[in-house]
Amino acid sequence: MPHPSPKSRIEELRRLIRYHNERYYREDAPEISDAEYDALFRELQKLEEAHPEFFDPDSPTRRVGAEPVEAFGTVVREIPMLSLQNAFREEELVEFDARTRRFLRGRGHGLEAILDARGYVAEVKIDGLAVELVYENGTYVRGATRGDGVRGEDVTANLRTVPDVPLSIPRKAAHSVRGVIAPAPPPYLSVRGEVYMTKADFRDLNRGRERLGEPVFANPRNAAAGSVRQLDPRVTASRRLRLWVYGTGQDPSKTGVSLFTHHGEELDILKGWGFPVNTEYSRVCRTVDEVLSFYREVEGRKDALPYEIDGIVVKVDAVELQRELGEISRSPRWAIAAKFSPDRAETTVEDIIVSVGRTGTITPVAVLSPVVVRGVTVRRATLHNQDLIDEKDIRVGDRVVVQRAGDVIPEVVESLSAGKKEPGREGPFRMPDRCPICSSPVERIPGEAAHRCTGKGCVGKRKESLRHFVSKDAMDIEGMGPKILSALVDSGLVSEPADLYDLDAQTLAAMERLGDRSAGNLIRAIEKSRTPTLSRFLYALGIPHVGQHLSEVLARHSGSLPAVRRSTREELMEVHEIGPEVAEAVSGFFSSEEGKRIVDRLLDRGRIKVRPEPPREGSMAGKTFLFTGALEMPRAKAQELVRKAGGIVAAGVSRKVDFLVAGADPGSKLAKARKTGIKVITEEDFVKMAGGRVP
Ligand code: IVH
Repeated sequence: MPHPSPKSRIEELRRLIRYHNERYYREDAPEISDAEYDALFRELQKLEEAHPEFFDPDSPTRRVGAEPVEAFGTVVREIPMLSLQNAFREEELVEFDARTRRFLRGRGHGLEAILDARGYVAEVKIDGLAVELVYENGTYVRGATRGDGVRGEDVTANLRTVPDVPLSIPRKAAHSVRGVIAPAPPPYLSVRGEVYMTKADFRDLNRGRERLGEPVFANPRNAAAGSVRQLDPRVTASRRLRLWVYGTGQDPSKTGVSLFTHHGEELDILKGWGFPVNTEYSRVCRTVDEVLSFYREVEGRKDALPYEIDGIVVKVDAVELQRELGEISRSPRWAIAAKFSPDRAETTVEDIIVSVGRTGTITPVAVLSPVVVRGVTVRRATLHNQDLIDEKDIRVGDRVVVQRAGDVIPEVVESLSAGKKEPGREGPFRMPDRCPICSSPVERIPGEAAHRCTGKGCVGKRKESLRHFVSKDAMDIEGMGPKILSALVDSGLVSEPADLYDLDAQTLAAMERLGDRSAGNLIRAIEKSRTPTLSRFLYALGIPHVGQHLSEVLARHSGSLPAVRRSTREELMEVHEIGPEVAEAVSGFFSSEEGKRIVDRLLDRGRIKVRPEPPREGSMAGKTFLFTGALEMPRAKAQELVRKAGGIVAAGVSRKVDFLVAGADPGSKLAKARKTGIKVITEEDFVKMAGGRVP
């Protein structure tokens, strides 16, 4: 077949694309796959570029506002989107209330009285996709997914197609809602909420997909998430998405302005600005009993609601108290999600075994007849500890309920055979009094429910901690799998982390199952791991309670390994997000003989060299900074930090400036900046934005 001329191919493509647009957008019944459609679209774009003489303003490629984005960009936010602590039982809500009160009482100043007066706001927890919408001077400029809290995916164009998303909000004080007059929005406004799909729209969507032989979505949440995270905003536009907003991402301590004094008011203001707020299912509850009755009421009505919810969210109403309570490990202390019964399934306990963790903790594990919970086959589930087993009377042979909630490991929540005499039911489980691996005595740590192997050199412990040390998020020694590690430990070549750095290719190659090539690769991987960042190194040490996030917090706060090693428990307690347990564990580790030796040997003779934490990449990307007054750090240093983090340094006040960093005795720039509506921040805020501590 002869090649068609460019002109006729262009005409044909325009016709085809228009035809498929109709099928797709109007009828919700595409005849070709997204990929095929994209291919046609790109072919037309290319031809039009190469042949501007055939320009046609009506070409389907000219449709404004809905150009497919190449890939999602990353949005780095200053005020992270936090996650929530979870409660799975009513008692845990009661505990949350008690905990909150205790904390406030500890802070004094009649704070508990404020809680008594204002109480909580309870809302439904929508099961959708968390998003942030940013408005600059009242205009929608950015939409992003939550991502890891700090970095989200830029889905601005996609969210623009969601009818519930206001594209602009009143710039002057708006009309009142429930007696609250929405003030003029600040120049920069971050609004947070959940994009969702109604149950009915979800069913329609799936019916259409089924008819076309396309894969159906498992639930409305996946459908909503899949629709937002589309490279082509036109696909998003074709899905019937909705939005509920539940708060702002403002931090009054940063902007110096507080738009509201309590969460209820925050919701009313958002509503006044035109955002969809679920006022039908949000309620002010003065006491925890009122919270509980809201929880029960909503759970009872859950199935009748037009959208899916997976629980309720309870928030301390007064912003003043929220600020006092602060946050811990990425979740606010002032809020909790009370989930409705998470997914569970019944199965049989075939055996109970114990596993030895890297800190020596001996955990009983139920070996189960395989059962699918939330789409995942569960074969083992933790039994946590002897006390819980006793309390729930779980034994081999029992019918039990296993639960997989969120991302946590499966657990046995209940035995249906508890207290019964059934054939096949064994006697009560007892923790072994000797470690199954090293045979050292097992002891129960006073004051804790856990049992621990007392063996100083327990091989099980050692293997687990080495496994953690080399893992991807720690030192990242690629190829050093559990089998090789185990063999290295068994052969006596490795007993602690430093030994890994004394290995050579010949020794490795001489080991079973390892050829010259893999040995060489392994040595290279070990070499590559010799210069970890401080946070990776801290994480690799496997100090109890210190996960990746807290390792980074510690690294950014302390700045250097010697500083972390020197820190006392009291000093560590001062660090935001670090509680007494973590402080104890960290200072305890570094002052213990073993901890000292492990670290010293690693540093000795340059086996490894710990790098300071690099600034968070691009944390200031595209933002313009201006400085005034005396800073703690030299001005040049501050400017360098901005540039390193991808920001711009301005010379004077102008509309282009995003942040004015004000030191002591600020000059006239401060007043000017305030007039221009530029955000004024302290040096401390600035350092945080730059990614933590200044080296
Ligand atoms: S408040 C600091 N309120 O739940 C407060 N979250 O784990 C943080 N969610 O994906 C969130 N409905 O998007 C809040 N009424 C509600 C919510 C809600 C759903 C989602 C949120 C996030 C998750 C938090």
